[in-house]
Amino acid sequence: MHEALNPKIRRYFFSLKKKLEEHDRHYYRDAAPIISDFEYDCLKHEWKELRRQYPALQLESETIGDDRREGFATFPHLSPMLSLSNTYDRSEVDAFDQRIRRVLGGKEALRYVVEHKIDGVAVNLIYEEGHLIRALTRGNGREGDDVTKNVLTIQGLPVYLPDAPQRLELRGEVYIPLEVFEEINRQQEERGEEPFANPRNLAAGTLKTLDTSIVQQRKLQLWIHSLGLCEGLSIATMVDFYCFLKKWQLPYVEFFENAHSLEEIWKCIGIIDQRRHTLHFATDGAVLKINDRSLQRILGETQHSPRWAFAYKFAPERVETRLEKISLQVGRSGAITPIAELKSVWIAGTEVKRATLHNASEIERKDIREGDIVVLEKAGEVIPAITEVVLSRRSPTSIPFVFPRKCPQCNALLSRAMGEIAWKCPNDDCSAKVECRILHFASRSAMHIEGLGDNLVHQLCQKGYVKNIADLYELSHEQLMNCNGIGTKTAEKVMQNLEQSKSCSLWRFLHGLGIPGIGEKTSKDLASSFPDVRTLMAASLEALRIIPGVGEKTALEVHAYFQSASVVCMIDRLEALGIRCIRAST
Ligand code: IVH
Repeated sequence: MHEALNPKIRRYFFSLKKKLEEHDRHYYRDAAPIISDFEYDCLKHEWKELRRQYPALQLESETIGDDRREGFATFPHLSPMLSLSNTYDRSEVDAFDQRIRRVLGGKEALRYVVEHKIDGVAVNLIYEEGHLIRALTRGNGREGDDVTKNVLTIQGLPVYLPDAPQRLELRGEVYIPLEVFEEINRQQEERGEEPFANPRNLAAGTLKTLDTSIVQQRKLQLWIHSLGLCEGLSIATMVDFYCFLKKWQLPYVEFFENAHSLEEIWKCIGIIDQRRHTLHFATDGAVLKINDRSLQRILGETQHSPRWAFAYKFAPERVETRLEKISLQVGRSGAITPIAELKSVWIAGTEVKRATLHNASEIERKDIREGDIVVLEKAGEVIPAITEVVLSRRSPTSIPFVFPRKCPQCNALLSRAMGEIAWKCPNDDCSAKVECRILHFASRSAMHIEGLGDNLVHQLCQKGYVKNIADLYELSHEQLMNCNGIGTKTAEKVMQNLEQSKSCSLWRFLHGLGIPGIGEKTSKDLASSFPDVRTLMAASLEALRIIPGVGEKTALEVHAYFQSASVVCMIDRLEALGIRCIRAST
């Protein structure tokens, strides 16, 4: 007979379970967790420990997330989609290896593959007779949401596999490359909208987006890492499996390591830890897998995870530093982004002096004040972020940060539109906005005018030589030479580059104009439907609406932009100055 369980412990155990279920809903269903993965893993660990310690709790099953949502058709997986046991504790990895050797009786020469744990969203691709018939999310592990349409936006994903088995399930992670994530967040802040917390949440939200044109812009990618049902083909090892993936031209993480002993496992994890900082996608640990699939079958699985695989997760790096000042940046749309100016500190191999605080509500929510000691956290490969204030080290004389009412650059009264998160400067002639517009026009992703970088554009605007895009084409050699650090040669080169840009492709020009809400992709969609900017300017709202890739909101924005007298005047001037941007393929 077991002793009766202390009611306090029982209550605590179930309150933890409730919390975990709530966080599962935020993470899986809403793709918007409110605590970090590390905090979640700690809660789960604590819960599992209680269950292990108290026999009366052992029948309680683990919580499992469920990502299924309204609006999606649900289909069963051909075989259950399991999860992985994970730990931050080195001794649990040692215990995992010992357990495996014990179960297999120590007779087998063991080989593990050790690879990156990708911080993405799990998907299951079902191929029948070689044809991709469906892509499902994990759902509740038995059935998931049909996200085939969105998965098909992944460039290069083969929809037919020659010589494939009759039925095949490939499991992998959908992710958003770090660079794409950072660009999307820049655009979010620019539009005054809330930035996405991390690439994983954005990938999860994107996979559950019903508008395919948005999904396309997010540039989803995929790594395949495991096998579900495989009917009619015998695959002996994980390494053989990866060879099949290679043959089928499916994306998989090629750089896995091989380990035969615990010592080698730790060596491999060390390599993975080093390499993760150089990758273009977020990872959060290392996964160990038994290579031999017949041994995998012997080891079997629990209800939730295989007994032949295990994840060692890297705890996020955290450092404390002083927030010296909160400065304010004015973006192209006028959105004001508060920036934390930090006492310089090293985290995960990089020196950090500044971190975005995103918006006024974020500062208020975390009660971040100038002079505070703050915790800077770098989880995976994501940009370091301030997670909290060390209240015990706050000066008694500190005062809450008051977000200004006026633009720090031009003093105009800031405004905030309904439903938007950012305060914006409404003054179109604000020098900070003008500078951003010019920089954007000249940038690599728009007109690509080399030589027109931050420093030069800043000086040209400060000196009053450039107030709008058209002024760039009236710059004189002397004006350029008047700027610090610009010699005859550089001035000549800039003049030449400006001259050359006069005949660049229409989409670059449209993108360069910085029409609100119009990025590179929509600029290309517009440019492929109109021969030149004049025809686009004359287009009716109806004509804009029916362009593939252009929705109602975009049509309205484009139409309104070209109705503005100052825009028409600027385009007239640009044409008079010889700009002839026409439709072209690049
Ligand atoms: S193997 C039975 N390999 O992490 C599951 N999973 O947190 C075998 N994941 O459910 C999965 N990188 O969705 C495997 N290299 C990798 C992975 C990986 C990320 C995901 C997977 C898993 C989850 C657990």
